[in-house]
Amino acid sequence: EEDGYDLWLRYRPLQQASQVQQQARSISYAGKASPTIQAAIDELRRGLQGMTGKVPASGTSVADGAIVLAKAGALPQGFKADGLAALGPEGYLLKSATVNGKRVTVIAANEDIGVLYGAFGLLRALNTGKALAAIDERSVPKLQLRVLNHWDNLDRTVERGYSGQSIWNWWELPDIRERQYVDYARANASLGINGTVLNNVNSKAEILTAPWIAKVAALADVLRPYGIKVYLSARWSTPLELKETKTADPLAPEVAAWWRAKADEIYRTIPDFGGFLVKANSEGQPGPQDYQRTHADGANMLAAALAPHKGIVMWRAFVYAAEKPDDRAKQAYDEFKPLDGKFAPNVLVQVKNGAIDFQPREPFHPLFGAMPQTPLMMEFQITKEYLGFAMHMAYLGPLFEEVLKADTKQRPNGFTVAQVLEDTDHGQRPTGMAGVANIGSSRTWSGSHFDQANWYAYGRFAWDPQGDSRAFAQEWAMQTFSREPQAVTQIVDMMMRSREAVVDYMTPLGLHHLMDTGHHHGPGPWVDNLGRPDWNPTYYHKADKKGIGFDRTATGSNALAQYAPGVAQRWADPRTTPEELLLWFHHLPWDYAMPSGRTLWTELVARYDRGVTEAEGLRARWEKLKPLVDGRRYDEVAQRLDTQVREARWWRDASVAYFQSVSGLPLPPGARKPE
Ligand code: GCU
Repeated sequence: EEDGYDLWLRYRPLQQASQVQQQARSISYAGKASPTIQAAIDELRRGLQGMTGKVPASGTSVADGAIVLAKAGALPQGFKADGLAALGPEGYLLKSATVNGKRVTVIAANEDIGVLYGAFGLLRALNTGKALAAIDERSVPKLQLRVLNHWDNLDRTVERGYSGQSIWNWWELPDIRERQYVDYARANASLGINGTVLNNVNSKAEILTAPWIAKVAALADVLRPYGIKVYLSARWSTPLELKETKTADPLAPEVAAWWRAKADEIYRTIPDFGGFLVKANSEGQPGPQDYQRTHADGANMLAAALAPHKGIVMWRAFVYAAEKPDDRAKQAYDEFKPLDGKFAPNVLVQVKNGAIDFQPREPFHPLFGAMPQTPLMMEFQITKEYLGFAMHMAYLGPLFEEVLKADTKQRPNGFTVAQVLEDTDHGQRPTGMAGVANIGSSRTWSGSHFDQANWYAYGRFAWDPQGDSRAFAQEWAMQTFSREPQAVTQIVDMMMRSREAVVDYMTPLGLHHLMDTGHHHGPGPWVDNLGRPDWNPTYYHKADKKGIGFDRTATGSNALAQYAPGVAQRWADPRTTPEELLLWFHHLPWDYAMPSGRTLWTELVARYDRGVTEAEGLRARWEKLKPLVDGRRYDEVAQRLDTQVREARWWRDASVAYFQSVSGLPLPPGARKPE
């Protein structure tokens, strides 16, 4: 019975097993294996056993049919690894070669971690049907920090987690080191994820006390061989709350001294500790502004404490306050843009993909490309807070890709978000991407089988922000479900359509933040009685008798002015604004003529209808796959798709009925009838 625990590391038997077995008879490494090299050897043994039916021998000699693990400086004699040095500490190359007359496959890298990534790369190649005999691949991560953000609380609840309890069993740490931590490390290393922030951005002071540091150190020990550093979310007011200082003012010497001593304490037990992630002056969290200091003052004080240990600060730009009600979308840019160039070199500003909050669709965040003097890292949300939790199928690959490929036009020849992140002009500056994890202790890790693909795609994009979401879906499906071409095609097709279906039945044409209060599951466009205006869905859609949408042009909030002129000019006119962002930027009359020739109202209803039809289509497609998918996983997915169809109809019916109640318009001819 497949329960999903093995993720994409299932290593099912290959059709060409006997041939591959000839080419992978042994694993050779010439030196004394470090824990990282040992992890590579173990993974190759596990994977090859699964795929070929035989466990390869391992040792130091190079025989015919060997997989040779090699580091620069100790390459097999006669093997030419052109350009190896350029692959950096984490890159690798895979090459079939003849060495001393023996046919071998070489995994070469500069450092141990590159060898481990290469081993996973080789297994992925085999798993997705590539032939070893002609393999010739090289791969280098384009971002330095490829990080998961766990919004995990210390009581094992997970903020916006839909996959059971936190996998961190804090009660039993540091003594009990669960096997699942190793499997977590393997899964992440297979994608190249090299950092994890263990605790929620809404952080507690206790995490930085000695007993908790000991627990964190135990996790760091388990993750280290897999190249994964641990980081912590730090609560701004920690020293004050622990009553060890009288203030949390970043410019007070006692505060800076406290953080320096705290950093020293952490690094004594975790010498490769990554650093801090900070949510400050956002949604009620404390921060430097409580003392009339800036985000830069706060970040730089922490950065100074970490710098002697080579630690970094990831300072979040997700800020918005009730006192600025005109447009929440503007606040991050307003606060951070003036601070460009004011951050210490070991600070990255971590920016959500869009200016509101992980909606099914948002335009890219205007800060990307707008802070040239500051390293910016991306924050994506893998857990689907606003896309149906783990109950709806929504493959996020296309969402990630859409944002990464967006052109900020901050340079004359174009400057995509991916290029902003890669920051190739500045050489040594840190670069990175963070993903809010969807991992928990559910048997599937991610709450559902298909949500594993979102973890997978995130990791692949963090390695290569210019990657291709369809290719990642295909790789994932082949490794996770089936190599049967018919099954792969169908599964990939479902995945690729799924996110747009969610956009259509929840928030079409640029609508956003219409989810019901607090939990964000299900429709709530009518909600207008919350304590803060910018929490109410009515604030975002602004529908009335005459029209709908948020005017962010010069006649409205003018949030558009935060984008480069090339973007702002195009989006200032509804005629040249992409339809999918229309109501994000414009308030338009219900009878506005859409390019389709329909009125806005008719088009809006048609989008809602299309979303439901697409959800029904996902369900029907899955049914056809029944003979090709194992029973347990088939059923578990089918139940979720049934739920999705029901909830898509709920979204559609409730939203259309509500907008009708505001506009007074009848259902357009040909529209679906409410269920
Ligand atoms: C969203 C989410 C919160 C989270 C916040 C953040 O608002 O609903 O749960 O804390 O984002 O990113 O800080």
